Amino acid sequence: TTNHLRHVELLTTLPSGAGEISPLNAVILGEALASEEDDLIFSNKEFSNKAHVSSPQKYLEMYKRSIVDSAGFWSDIASQFYWKQRWDEHCVYSENLDVRNGDIRIQWFKGGVTNICYNALDTNIQAGLGDKTAFFWEGNDLGQDATLTFSQLLNKVCQLANYLKDIGVKKGDAVVIYLPMLMELPIAMLACARIGAVHSVVFVGFSSESLSQRIMDCKPKAVITCNAVRRGSKVLNLKNIVDAALAESTNNGVSIDVCLTCENQSAMTRETTKWQIDRDVWWQDIVSKYPTTCEVEWVDAEDPLFLLYTSGSTGKPKGVLHTTGGYMIYTATTFKYAFDYKPSDIYWCTADCGWITGHSYVTYGPLLNGSTVVIFEGAPNYPDSGRCWDIVDKYKVTLFYTAPTLFVNRYSRKSLRVLGSVGEPINPSAWRWFYNVVGDSRCPISDTWLQTETGGFMITPLPGTWPQKPGSVTFPFFGVLPIIVDEKGNEIEGECSGYLCIRNSWPGAFRTLYGDHERYETTYFKPFPGYYYSGDGCSRDKDGYHWLTGRVDDVINVSGHRIGIAEIESALVSHRQCAEAAVVGVEHEVDLSPAYLYRLLDFTDLILKMDDLIFSNKDFIDLKNGGSNSKSYLIVIGGAEVPSGRRLVSLDVFRGLTVALMILVDDAGGFLPSINHSPWNGVTLADFV
Ligand code: WTA
Repeated sequence: TTNHLRHVELLTTLPSGAGEISPLNAVILGEALASEEDDLIFSNKEFSNKAHVSSPQKYLEMYKRSIVDSAGFWSDIASQFYWKQRWDEHCVYSENLDVRNGDIRIQWFKGGVTNICYNALDTNIQAGLGDKTAFFWEGNDLGQDATLTFSQLLNKVCQLANYLKDIGVKKGDAVVIYLPMLMELPIAMLACARIGAVHSVVFVGFSSESLSQRIMDCKPKAVITCNAVRRGSKVLNLKNIVDAALAESTNNGVSIDVCLTCENQSAMTRETTKWQIDRDVWWQDIVSKYPTTCEVEWVDAEDPLFLLYTSGSTGKPKGVLHTTGGYMIYTATTFKYAFDYKPSDIYWCTADCGWITGHSYVTYGPLLNGSTVVIFEGAPNYPDSGRCWDIVDKYKVTLFYTAPTLFVNRYSRKSLRVLGSVGEPINPSAWRWFYNVVGDSRCPISDTWLQTETGGFMITPLPGTWPQKPGSVTFPFFGVLPIIVDEKGNEIEGECSGYLCIRNSWPGAFRTLYGDHERYETTYFKPFPGYYYSGDGCSRDKDGYHWLTGRVDDVINVSGHRIGIAEIESALVSHRQCAEAAVVGVEHEVDLSPAYLYRLLDFTDLILKMDDLIFSNKDFIDLKNGGSNSKSYLIVIGGAEVPSGRRLVSLDVFRGLTVALMILVDDAGGFLPSINHSPWNGVTLADFV
């Protein structure tokens, strides 16, 4: 606790000469400190007055309590949820994040008995929200849509839950879900949660190899999928991918008895869907025959809720395991505060449920708050780049949460109240465009930092609470103690830059890597003993604002020179012809001198220099030919230390960009081996131009 107090002090006191004023107070009160280069964006007074946290002072009060009396703070919040049985008051959570003091066994609300599906649906219906719209579903094609109220959603969840029970799925069993953004996807997640089964959603951009790898790891009782999906003008035959994955896992001794397949009529008919009669079942034929009520399976707060695989920099994907109680409290609370959620809001998160953002902020966080959620099946650029804004308009979206890669579309919509961003550092110019153009200089931006591992937001603005700085994720969420360490693991204070770690336990934290607790400790807790290590670089400025600089392992190593990809992206977008850039790595046999790369970062005419950069790489030449009369290039920087699929999360929307850039550089490296379990599989360069 002494450490914690000291940390709160550090976070809330200026490093030098500013006396007793906290940085937050300072920026809001003292123009003295806010020089022009601080680039502060003040929030509108009217907005702040109505916000859940209306001032920095109020935040500091709540934040201090959340750190100093963590158990009390979170217990008060948890008490607002339904628990069949209350947790052990003497042991609200376990504190140890220090491997030197023994195993890391994070627990929250141990002994508490609850169910997240019950809290997301039944309790909201009891509170009178039965007829409120839970989901607005918007299909790939214009004019294709559907809605479900909370009561209707509960009925559908119960039918599927009953079916799953009937085929023998029990508490603790895994179920793999390989579905696009149909309403069936959150329905399947909630149905699993209702009966205590552990869902593992696999993003449909993943290949059959990746899918079978996950199936073999978690050995599910059933796989839930659909026959096909339309993305823009393309049809993706998902059933074929699933068939191949199931064949592969059967060959390796893991056979699946039931493949529940939803018929997605707009994409593919039954007649053309390949079928294995003893295994495959049409969802539409069977699930609707089951009763619309289903008893809840009450589970311990620490019983597993889901497994979500995420790429590591080496080896097989990591099965990040989240449990029930802490995750429920954390996603609900972060959603409420980071978006300043009010019951009248219409919320749209463009993330797919295949990622953590979709788990926590499409399904659980919003539904636990009784929010109306927009779910979009299609591609943001289909039929044209105005699609997102048509959707915002159509449903009068007030809270719009997306990834920076989507910022390139130029529209503005009046219903918007709060904008959110996630997944990668936003460069200040993109931030400003999002703020000024999309939000009409009126909507606060929540640039939320989270990871699959953290379950929910860790560092994020609270809308209307404090002034923003374009590109900064600002301050920690309640109960989170972020610290920055140097490469030796020493905590660095004041204005600094280094590795981002977390000092304390938070309710939404993942509890283990499935089947490999040792890897969990080695990857996250051993690099800097005493802390959770995020793998991200971060700096803190003189006002205490945090700035993410990208994955520390997203580092390009060119002949021993290390460059963060965020820096390269920022340099690229400063070019007048470049709207947005995403830098990823591929190996290349030609070694390029660092001097060359630096010259590129400091370019005056990128396109000219690109001509110098053509190597013998056939893909690149194809790309260049394909893109020659548009300004479309994809720049990829390669190097020995470029890892895995993480940065590729946004590729799916990346296809909608008008300009993407590729630089081919450097030596053989670690990129290609991991390509298998990334969404790159099956994607060719032509997809990007
Ligand atoms: C990055 C995706 C900057 C970060 C949600 C992290 C961000 C990784 C932000 C996790 C943000 C996420 N600003 N970077 N607001 N949010 N990241 O697990 O590098 O797929 O470590 O979860 O995304 O990726 P993951």
